[in-house]
Amino acid sequence: MNMRRNFLAAALAATTALAGGNALAQAAYPTKPITLVVPFAAGGPTDVVARTLGQAMTKSLGQTVIIENKLGAGGTVAAAYVSRAAPDGYTLLINHNGMATSTALYRKLPYNPLTDFEYISQAVDVPMTLLARKDFPANNFQEFSAYVKSHQATINLGNAGLGAVSQLCGMMLERAMGVKLTSVPFSGTAPAMTALLGGQIDILCDQTTQTIPQIKDGRVKFYGVTTRNRIKALPDAPTLAEQGLKDFEVLVWHGIYAPKGTPKPVIDRVNVAVRAALKDPDVLKRMAELGAEIAPDSKLSPEGLQTWLKAEIDRWGPIIKAGGTFAD
Ligand code: MLT
Repeated sequence: MNMRRNFLAAALAATTALAGGNALAQAAYPTKPITLVVPFAAGGPTDVVARTLGQAMTKSLGQTVIIENKLGAGGTVAAAYVSRAAPDGYTLLINHNGMATSTALYRKLPYNPLTDFEYISQAVDVPMTLLARKDFPANNFQEFSAYVKSHQATINLGNAGLGAVSQLCGMMLERAMGVKLTSVPFSGTAPAMTALLGGQIDILCDQTTQTIPQIKDGRVKFYGVTTRNRIKALPDAPTLAEQGLKDFEVLVWHGIYAPKGTPKPVIDRVNVAVRAALKDPDVLKRMAELGAEIAPDSKLSPEGLQTWLKAEIDRWGPIIKAGGTFAD
């Protein structure tokens, strides 16, 4: 009996020491660089947001935030990778609407966005823009619409794969205009933009975080923004909705995630760093130049992101399924 009591006491002491050790490790977090995984190509819209935030988060966390671009399958390769990473706060994911739309686009997704992650925060909202190569034979949206309808069999539409917002925007555009174009997928819209500038693709729907410099330099044809209202960064640009695509709206939101099981104090520490980054003057300046808006306070908590993600899955699921675009 005594032996049994001694054994139980020793086991309890060991568990307490372990829990204390974990708490100490968490209190010290982070003690080494943190990897923020970006699902699309370097230099593109998601990468720009991640690097801008990562730099500012480094100041607040006292450890470097390293950006790792893990490409493939419209962002789902990166999300699957992070869902399987150690839940210790050293591997995080930034992803956009694709976190929600992929659940409808893929028959077999290798992770569940609602059960395989911890939610940290949203970050910024980014409008999209409809572009064509510089020598595309349409100088405004009415000409664009007429030309695309009469030449749809010959027109290429670039995107970053199923799950990318460029694909979502292109798909919505095809539906709104009643056309079917040839989809050309890339590993991100950075290489898609290179192809547009080189004339290898005809049309690209892409985020202002990459397109504003190209639009301002006149290196592409630009037909309008995808938001409900005009945007501050391009005040003279009409929306697609006001030019005849009734109710057309695609706005890109960004969430930051950790693998399921990452301890709450670690999630809270990263959340504080994201919030601090979103108040950093360098971040605010850069985001404003690129047309991105800081997400409202209600979306900056773990619960705010989780609720939003669920609502987006419910919103896009039926729309995507009605279109019949799927991958295995
Ligand atoms: C990117 O960073 O390349 C884009 O966010 C891809 C996309 O269109 O979703």
